Amino acid sequence: MNAELAAAIEAAKSAGLLLRENFWKPRSIVDKGTNDLVTDTDIASERMIVSRLRAAFPNHRIAAEEGTRIGEGDLTWWIDPLDGTYNFVHSVPRFSVSIALVRGNTLDDILLGVVYDPMFDELFYASRADGAYRISAGRKPEQLRVSARARLRDSLVASGFPANLRKTGNNAPEWSAFIPLTQGMARMGSAALDLCYVAAGRFDVYWEKGLAPWDMCGGLLIASEAGATISEYDGHPFNLDPPSGLLATNSLLHDEAIRVLMSARTSL
Ligand code: IPD
Ligand code: CA
Ligand code: CA
Repeated sequence: MNAELAAAIEAAKSAGLLLRENFWKPRSIVDKGTNDLVTDTDIASERMIVSRLRAAFPNHRIAAEEGTRIGEGDLTWWIDPLDGTYNFVHSVPRFSVSIALVRGNTLDDILLGVVYDPMFDELFYASRADGAYRISAGRKPEQLRVSARARLRDSLVASGFPANLRKTGNNAPEWSAFIPLTQGMARMGSAALDLCYVAAGRFDVYWEKGLAPWDMCGGLLIASEAGATISEYDGHPFNLDPPSGLLATNSLLHDEAIRVLMSARTSL
């Protein structure tokens, strides 16, 4: 394991411990905009991760959701210190820490990704061209592989609803289009974990619009190293910036998922 991956895992697990401890305590909550919440724990987690990565890699850029923008250079750490803030605020134990090291704007530029679910003690990680893995509750690493489900009607399909609906639209037509075609629908509330669940073969299809690099970069590499196909809703190559419609599937269901998403928009 290289030094960057080891440091990212260590930072994600330490921040995850902080989230787990604070989960049981009262929260201080601020609305950053319309329906865009942040808690004191998001901020404390970001400080902890940034100080560790900064100390280890002073020449790398760091960009984190709650405002950190430091450093220069080709390599950027994208950090979501608490992905799933709504769940955290409502005491629902489904959220994660997400960290990725990225050198550009395309999927191929994501060099490593780490996502940690502290309540379940489940760690997901990947390095480019080296596979994706999970470690749960201190067990040995297990290589991840997407599901082999080939029919939408046998599949569990997930999506998310971004805070800023004015920028992204409300996702209701897409959600309605999938409902009658699948075995089940999930809205778990952490985009980073949604992508890891595609990697682990739990979800077969996941789509969402308007994600930021800190939400998705870690999970994107983990999913793609586990065999997922990733594209825009219409099948075009997916870029990290500007944010657009992300579709991640087990590959077998990709064309069918594109058809469903396209039909949802044309039937508006
Ligand atoms: C949110 C979560 C959620 C997704 C939203 C994100 P946050 O991130 O990933 O699943 O649907 O689009 O903004 O705000 O909890 O870090
Ligand atoms: Ca997020
Ligand atoms: Ca967040």
